[in-house]
Amino acid sequence: MEPQKSLIQENNYKELEFEHAILVIVQWAILDSFLKERESILELFNKTGLTKEDLVDIFLAYKSNLKYGKIPEDVHHRLIQLYCLSSGHVQDCLHKMRLSSRSNLCEQINLTSNRFSISPKEFTDIITIMSDEGYCILPFSLSEQECDQIINYSHEFNYSCLLDNGEQVVRKMKNDMFDFEKDVVLARAFEEDIENMNMINQIIYDPVILGIVSILLGSKALLRHCSYWFTYPGKKTTKHQSEAAQLFHYDLDEFKWLKLFIFMDDVTDENGPHVYIPATHKPGNKPFDLLKFGYSRLPDNLVSQFHKKETWKKLTCKKGTMVLANTQCWHKGTPLTNGRRCVLVPEYSITTFSKVFL
Ligand SMILES: [Fe+2]
Repeated sequence: MEPQKSLIQENNYKELEFEHAILVIVQWAILDSFLKERESILELFNKTGLTKEDLVDIFLAYKSNLKYGKIPEDVHHRLIQLYCLSSGHVQDCLHKMRLSSRSNLCEQINLTSNRFSISPKEFTDIITIMSDEGYCILPFSLSEQECDQIINYSHEFNYSCLLDNGEQVVRKMKNDMFDFEKDVVLARAFEEDIENMNMINQIIYDPVILGIVSILLGSKALLRHCSYWFTYPGKKTTKHQSEAAQLFHYDLDEFKWLKLFIFMDDVTDENGPHVYIPATHKPGNKPFDLLKFGYSRLPDNLVSQFHKKETWKKLTCKKGTMVLANTQCWHKGTPLTNGRRCVLVPEYSITTFSKVFL
C-alpha cells in the first residue's frame, strides 16, 4: 500500500484561524464587547505583565509558525515566563482565543471504527477523567499481536540513539541489535520511518481516538507529530541526558495539546513506569512556589512538599495499553533497572504551533 504523505503535511491550516484570533484579541483587549472575558484577560494583563504588544508578538509568531514551522526564541521564552507567572492561565486563554464555533464539533465524535469501539458512557467517562485528572487509561487497547507486528516492523527503522557514555549515534536496530542491548539508553525512531507504516497510521488517525481528542481540544484534532522510542537501563557508568526526564517537569509543546502513550511492552516497576500528578494540568493548580523555578526539572523531595506523594500515580500496565495524557501535568519517567520499554506516542493539537521547540 502507498505510504501516506508526511504526517505534518496532513495538517491543513487556514489563514482564517489567525484572522479570527486577531479579531478576538481586538474585541477582548480594546472594545467593550465580551465584557466578562475582557475582565478576565485584563486581570491576566495586570497579574502577569502581559501586554498588548506580547499578544501581537505571540500571534505574529503563531502566523510565522504556520508558514515556516518555527517561532522566534524570544517569544518562546516570553511564553514560558507567562506560563509560570499565571500558572498556565495565559496558555489557556490563548488556546480559547483560537477556537472558533463549537457547533460542528459533534460531527467529530465516533464511537466505533474498524479497530475500536466504545459506549457513550465510556466516551463520557474519558472526557470527565481527562478534564478532572489530565490522564486516562482508555477502555480499548492494542492486542499483543498488533504490538508484535509494530515492533517487528520497527526493526527496519533508523534510530537516533543516546549511548550510555553520552554519545549520540544513528543506528538501525536490525543491524545493531547486540549494541542496542549493550550500550543504548534511549533509541528514538526517525519520524519519516514511523509514518511509513500503514498500521501505525491507521491507529494514530483512528476516528474514535480523533473524536475523543477533538472534543477535549475544543476543535478538530490534528496530528502534530508522532514519536516511537525504546528505553534501556544502560550501565549507569556516566550521567546520561535521559536522567533529566526522570525529574518532575511539565511539557510546554503548545497552548493545548494531548499525547497518546501506546505501550508496546508490559510496563512494570522495573522498566521505567511513567509517573504523573493528577489535576496539575489545570490552570492555577501548579503552585507559584514551584513555578518560581521557571521551566526547570524538579526533584521529588521538593515537589512532595506541595503535592503529597499519595496523590502521585504510576502507570504500570499491560502491553497494548493506551493512555491519553495532558502532559501539562507534572510528570516524570522512572529509571529502568531491567528489561526495556517501547512506546508509540502520537501527539495532537489544533495546530503545530511551536513545533520547533519539541
Ligand atoms: Fe515530559
